[in-house]
Amino acid sequence: MNIVFLGPPGAGKGTYAKELVKMLGIPHISTGDMFREAVASGSELGKKVEEILKKGELVPDDLTISIVKERLAKEDCEKGFILDGFPRTVDQAKALDEILKMLNKKLEYAIYFEVSEDVVVQRITNRRVCKNCGKIYNLITLPPKVDGKCDVCGGELYQREDDKEEVVKRRYRVYMENTYPVIEYYQKQNKLFTVDGSSGVDSVIKEVLNIIRG
Ligand code: AP5
Ligand code: MG
Repeated sequence: MNIVFLGPPGAGKGTYAKELVKMLGIPHISTGDMFREAVASGSELGKKVEEILKKGELVPDDLTISIVKERLAKEDCEKGFILDGFPRTVDQAKALDEILKMLNKKLEYAIYFEVSEDVVVQRITNRRVCKNCGKIYNLITLPPKVDGKCDVCGGELYQREDDKEEVVKRRYRVYMENTYPVIEYYQKQNKLFTVDGSSGVDSVIKEVLNIIRG
C-alpha cells in the first residue's frame, strides 16, 4: 500500500502516520523527521539543512529527492509505505512518479488532511514531542499524563525549534505557495482523497482506514 500524506504544517500527518503504520505493518517515512535527525546527529546533511529548517523554508528539491529515492529502495518498503511531508513541490511529485516507476511501484493514495490556519497555529504552538521515542503530544488536545514526560517511555518532551509562532506562520505561507499545488497534481491523477483533519485523532484515522480498505 503506497500512500502519501498531504496537508499543512500541524494537520496531524505525523500523529496519524505513527498509528496507522502499526496497523498496516509498513514504514512511516517523514522527510521532516529525517532532516531533524540529521541536524541532531551533526552529520553533513544536518549542517546543510539546519538553518533552512529554523527559518521554516524548504530544503532544495535535489537534496530532498535524493534522500527519498534512497529510502524507498530499502527492503522494508516492499509492502508499501506512508510518505509524510513529501512531496512538497510539484517537481518533487513528478520525481516521486519517476522513482516509483523505476522501482516498479505505483502510488495508490494521496490523502489530504484539510485544516484551517487557525487550527494549525493552535495545534503547533501547543505541540510537544518525546526526545526519546518521537511520540507527539499536544498540551491542549492530547496532553501527557505527567507534565513534560512521555507516557510511553518516560522520555523528556521538547518543543520543536520551528514551532515558534512566527516560524509557523512562515511555514504556512511556504505551504500555500509551494505545496498546495501538489493537491491539484494528484487530483488530476484521480488519486486524491480529502479528509477533514479538524475532527478528533481517532475519527480521522478511521476515515483513512475506510479509504484504503475501500
Ligand atoms: P515536517 O516535519 O514535515 O513539518 P510539517 O509538514 O510542517 O508538518 P508538522 O510535522 O509540523 O505537522 P504534522 O502534520 O505532522 O502534525 P502533527 O501530527 O505533529 O517538516 C519540517 C521542515 O523540514 C520543513 O519546514 C522543511 O524545512 C523541511 N522539509 C521536510 N520535508 C521537506 C520536503 N519534502 N521538501 C523540502 N523541505 C522539507 O500534529 C500537530 C499537533 O496537533 C500535535 O500537537 C498533535 O498532538 C496535534 N493533533 C494532531 N492531530 C490532531 C487532531 N485530530 N485533533 C487534535 N489535535 C491533533
Ligand atoms: Mg510531522
